Amino acid sequence: MHSQCVGYSLPVPNVQALATSINKSSLVPERYVRPEAKIEPVASTDDIELPVIDLAKLIDQEFSNEEASKLHLACQEWGFFQLVNHGVPEDLMEGLKVDIAEFFSKPLEEKMAYKQDNDGTIQGYGQVFVLSEEQKLDWSDMLYTMTRPIVLRNMKYWPTSPPTFRDNIDRFSLELTNLASCLWNYIAKNLGVAPEVFAQLFKDHPQAIRFNYYPPCLEPDKVVGHSPHSDATGISFVLHVNDVQGLQIRKDGEWITVSALPNAFVVNLGDITEILSNGIYKSVEHRVMIITENARISLASFHSPDNSIMLRPLPEVIGDGKPNYGSISYQDFMKAYFDKQLEGKSVVDMLKL
Ligand code: OGA
Ligand code: NI
Repeated sequence: MHSQCVGYSLPVPNVQALATSINKSSLVPERYVRPEAKIEPVASTDDIELPVIDLAKLIDQEFSNEEASKLHLACQEWGFFQLVNHGVPEDLMEGLKVDIAEFFSKPLEEKMAYKQDNDGTIQGYGQVFVLSEEQKLDWSDMLYTMTRPIVLRNMKYWPTSPPTFRDNIDRFSLELTNLASCLWNYIAKNLGVAPEVFAQLFKDHPQAIRFNYYPPCLEPDKVVGHSPHSDATGISFVLHVNDVQGLQIRKDGEWITVSALPNAFVVNLGDITEILSNGIYKSVEHRVMIITENARISLASFHSPDNSIMLRPLPEVIGDGKPNYGSISYQDFMKAYFDKQLEGKSVVDMLKL
């Protein structure tokens, strides 16, 4: 079993069902009311744009150096970027989006056939990071599947309906794995590290895909769709499955709302990359707010290192300088991550020297 999916979470009510049961005369239950979310200001997005990286340019000899510099800057200053011209076939993207929307539109009983099963992993339909009955809850449901390498799959959590869903997840997961390894090459070079070092750290390319469903809410300002967190990954890709926005990134003490380009991936570097890069690259906190009358649907593809690695800043990056983080085994890191609930960046902060 890979550390990426080992974990535990208490069962919680289905939010999609809850959202449809609430009407104008009933209120959002107290467990979902999040006054703290209003403390930090949300920036107006008019003049702030997430960097856009063009993969076709990155792999084209003529433009590669220039695009790689843009990538380096995006990783340093944002920890986030949008990836366009990524080469994942459009018919696959469209087919998968239709399948995901159809899965979430099925009756609750049908979705519950894939519910999390207290099997020591977080795979399945439900929610993660719920460790106590007192804890505030996110306004969302999710389906979590380990997708690669194939030996880590547990098909009981892969919906059989719509009938194309499994095949599309399979094809998509391969495309994203190839995309991740392509990006690792450029990230390695930008950090002054031999690409083989990253290839070794991320060998077998453990990958999980999380399908997120954020129901609409009559009182959207009271709830949070996805609590502030950084991803405990090497790199993550978010795809907007329908055209409803709501993802926000923390930058300079403000929340910035991402306005995702159609069919672009919103890519972010995770905690693992922050540590490996000795903090040159940041794993940035993000959250999802419920801002509309419509449901928001997204998927996140998480790419993790080999289960057996020791996590520490790479010597090639440190050079003559000092490490800014202590070392810890990847498995212990993941244990700490799942034990802490989603309290921002606490595990990475713990490792800071
Ligand atoms: C995640 C995540 C963002 C989104 O699943 O880790 O940050 O837009 N999702 O759903
Ligand atoms: Ni995330």
